[in-house]
Parts: sequence; C-alpha cells; structure tokens
Amino acid sequence: MNKYKLPSNSAMLKKDFTFGVATASFQIEGGVSNRLPCIWDTFCATEGKIADNSNGDIACDHYNLWQQDIELINSLGVDAYRLSISWPRVINQDGSANQEGINYYIQILDALLAKNIKPFVTLYHWDLPQHLEGNGGWLNRETAYQFKEYADVITKAFGDRVHSYATFNEPFCSSYLGYEVGIHAPGIKGKEFGRKAAHHILLAHGLAMPVLQKNSPKSLNGIVLNFTPCYANTEADQAASDYADQYFNQWYIKPLFDKAYPEIINTMPDWQQPDIQDGDMDIIAQPIDFLGINFYTRAIYTSDEDEIYRQLPPPAPITDIGWEIYPAAFTSLLTSLNELYELPPVYITENGAAMADTIEDDKVSDFDRVNYYQLHLNAVNDAIEKGVNVVGYFAWSLMDNFEWAEGYLKRFGIVYVDYKTQKRTIKQSGLAYRDLISNR
Ligand code: NOJ
Repeated sequence: MNKYKLPSNSAMLKKDFTFGVATASFQIEGGVSNRLPCIWDTFCATEGKIADNSNGDIACDHYNLWQQDIELINSLGVDAYRLSISWPRVINQDGSANQEGINYYIQILDALLAKNIKPFVTLYHWDLPQHLEGNGGWLNRETAYQFKEYADVITKAFGDRVHSYATFNEPFCSSYLGYEVGIHAPGIKGKEFGRKAAHHILLAHGLAMPVLQKNSPKSLNGIVLNFTPCYANTEADQAASDYADQYFNQWYIKPLFDKAYPEIINTMPDWQQPDIQDGDMDIIAQPIDFLGINFYTRAIYTSDEDEIYRQLPPPAPITDIGWEIYPAAFTSLLTSLNELYELPPVYITENGAAMADTIEDDKVSDFDRVNYYQLHLNAVNDAIEKGVNVVGYFAWSLMDNFEWAEGYLKRFGIVYVDYKTQKRTIKQSGLAYRDLISNR
C-alpha cells in the first residue's frame, strides 16, 4: 500500500479540516550555543540516560536549516505546522526577553504565514531552563509563575502571527517520566514527586491561559495532552486498569474540565498528594478554545500483589519502539472523552510511528508506517462519525529527530534525516500524506 484512503464523504476531506506536521524545539533545533542550557542538556550529559549517548547540540540543525525545512513543509502541502518554542532561547536568566531568540522564531512564523501555513505554537515541550530546575523546577510552585511571565513576553512579542497556542505538551511526560520514574529530564525519582510536579504544571497552564486570551485573543488557545488508553484482559483485572487510567490519563484532563483530580486521590497517602492551595482548581479549569490529543498506543494492565496495577508486555503487532499498534483504542478514547467531558474542538496534535527505516536509492519505502497512518486516519474518521468534533490532525513527526531517552535510534519522521549530511528525504509515508492533502 502506498496511498491513504478515506471515505469520499469523510469530514476529514473537507477544506476546513486541518492537516499538519509537528516537531519540538529540543528535538530538531540544535543551535545550543545560542541559548541557555535546559534540563535536557544536563540529562543528556549524564552517563547512561540516553540510549545512544547522544544529545541535542546539533539534532537536525534546524536552527540553521529552518528556511529549507519550511520549503519542505510547504512541499507537503500541509495547512499547518506545529512547533515549540525553546524557553531558554527566548528568556534570559533574569527573566527579560532575549531579542535574538525571539527574532529567530518571528522569522519562522513570518515565513510560514507567507506560505499560508498556520503556525501552531507550543510554549512548553519539555526544555525547562536549567536555572529554574536549580530552584526546584516543577516541584517549586514559583516555576508556574515564571511560566506565566514567559507566556506574557512571548505572546506580546509574536503579536497576531500565531494561529494557535498550546501552553503545555503532555504534562504526564514532564511530571511522571521526569519527576516520578526519572527516565526523562530532570531524572528525579520518587512517588512523592510526580503528582506535585503535575499540579504545578497544570497550575502554570491555568495561570497562562488568561494571559494568552488577553494578548492573543484571536488565536485558539489550549493545551496538548497524551493518552494511553488502559485495557484489561479479564474482569478481575478491570479495577487495576481503571486505577491506571485515573493515574496516567484522567489525572491530567479531569482538573481542566471538572476542577478536581480523579477519585483515586482520596486513597493516596498524604506524602504522595499534590500541594493544592485554595483557588488552585479554579485557576486550572480555565476555559480552553481547543484540546490537543496525542495518541500512539494502548496499555494492558493486570492486578498485582505488590502494586495496585502492573502493565503487561504489549502483544504484537508492535512498532520499532515497542508500542502496540491498536487503532481501535484511538476511536474509543475519543468517544469516551467526549462522553466524560464537555470538550471544545479537538485537534489530534500528534500521531505516528517509529519504524526501522532504511534508505535505498534516495527512497524510503516505509510501508509499515503508511499502514499505521492509514489505520489511525480511519480511527479518527470513525470517531468523527460517532460525533466527536475532531477538526485537525498532525503527523508526528515532520522529520526524524532526537527521540528523548532513545536518542536518534528511533525514527518517527515522515521525512528521513541523514544525520551525517543533514539531508532530508521524504519517505513513502510523507508522499502519501502529501497526496491525501492535495487530492481533497
Ligand atoms: C510525544 C512527544 O510529544 C514527542 O516529543 C515524542 O517524540 C513523541 N511523543 C514520540 O514519542
């Protein structure tokens, strides 16, 4: 298979449905000497944290190659490009604006607008300035207020160039992976930390939302959450799976819509509780213009004697990063969130697959990825038919890049990157995406 097909009457083929590609600053930019250090620089420099011992110093060298990369994005014919801003590139240590860094992004935004590509900007895609981590990072409530200031500076500087702002990308990853199990930066471990970090991140989101609405009233302002739907193989395992769902998924969305954490909070010991101050839940539950949803896979849980839940190894088929391909979970995730919450319009802000691509004669025949996209485009279409208001879809990622703890070993791009030459080659999955978009 080398083409994507959707039913001819699909809402996704209407011109007002947005198709885009996504990246994040630390994963593609490089340009490390033109910014302050961030927690991922420090993490990468720590022995044994990154699978291939790599770092983000050069990455895809997008810091220098941004013009050709925008040509590439344009050649795919997408309606939108989702990028993130590197906080340590645009704000100095004393909190003042770094004009050089701000100008770097303004030229990118202007180049996108000149080509009619809508900029979807994420303010926080994990690259916290290192000096803020020195003060406790997301375990320090003050970081939420620093984020609000950063959001204020950026939205004033960017004016009306931005089509959509997301405050955060995947608070789950920053808090749980970064501060509870320590497999992401800053690498802190302990059950006492994950919920505290999450609360301060959600608080930062809530503090920044009114700033975005005031400074950028015309853009769609919201947040991006990731979900890994939880399953059980037997009735007996259902309670374990429900607990995991509250812990990993609902924890980050319920406060936004219901001003409350999931019920399991009442069963957690004091030392694991977030530090919730009066009024915090009202701040967090600001109205949002859109919800971004990232989906890759599901997880199956069983009950366990020592732990409340235990994840089972994913059954086949799996991608190169070991994640099960299970598109039905995507449709049911969307319909269930739609039942549980009063959702604003939904953008699928990330979906995609890591595959062990090889390049031959300037061609990348990534048919497994083409198949993944086809299954997941269908899954989104099914959710729309069931009444979910999905208005856009972004492929993760525009190009192969620094895949966090996996370094450069896992390739998620629809464009292949040869890291020795920085040559980009559109993969079959990218060509098929281009055709789907241009044939609407
Ligand atoms: C989620 C993250 O937002 C992105 O940075 C990452 O590369 C992809 N998922 C794939 O793991």
